[in-house]
Amino acid sequence: MVRKKIIQKYKELYEEGKDRENSLGQYSDFFSNFFENISLRELIGWMVKEKSKIKVLDVGCGDAGFLNDLKKQFGEKVFTSGIDLIDFTGTDEKIIGDALNAEWPKEFDLIVSFRTLHEIGNSEKILTKALDSLKKNGMAVLSFRMQEFVNGQLDFLGEMKQGDARFLQQIGERAYFKKAQIESVESFKKEKGIKFLNGVTLIMEKTG
Ligand SMILES: C[S@@+](CC[C@H](N)C(=O)[O-])C[C@H]1O[C@@H](n2cnc3c(N)ncnc32)[C@H](O)[C@@H]1O
Repeated sequence: MVRKKIIQKYKELYEEGKDRENSLGQYSDFFSNFFENISLRELIGWMVKEKSKIKVLDVGCGDAGFLNDLKKQFGEKVFTSGIDLIDFTGTDEKIIGDALNAEWPKEFDLIVSFRTLHEIGNSEKILTKALDSLKKNGMAVLSFRMQEFVNGQLDFLGEMKQGDARFLQQIGERAYFKKAQIESVESFKKEKGIKFLNGVTLIMEKTG
């Protein structure tokens, strides 16, 4: 039921030409909000230089603008794959469906997700799927929006719940995630005198 509403919401937004377009530049800007030492462009450029071909997955890829930009910039050196509820074009591989239940392809060098994961929820299952789909030494950059004031009320966004906040803040202690090196950046906001967790972005490198 919730998914049907989300599909309807995005179908309507996209038909109006809203909120769909994304690009390597836009994702690089999101990334630079959290990680100052390296840019997303540099990270991908470095991966492409190190390996002859890399596989990249975008979860909730929208119109696949980011993936299509990668293809323009790096050509056959990048294999592009996207997952979204709504159809898109231009990638080497696509999975149309619910990222929570769909089977994700495997052996990725890089998995990204921006502005999407709060709509999906169940962060533990999503991060388990991401870890399982990375190749050894592959990296995932996953951004979760968490809480905002909506109509004067502080609330979790989309499908996010208190349990997700707890899980994301304690992920380093979970046995399954010991086979990854995880850097987590939490962003906090203060409104109406209340400080709250606005988002969590993780860089997860598969080590085991
Ligand atoms: C706000 S858009 C973000 C698109 C893109 N990542 C960006 O930053 O521009 C959220 C996207 O997530 C997709 N989405 C929402 N729930 C999903 C789910 N359960 N499985 C797969 N995709 C989903 C929507 O269809 C939509 O394209």
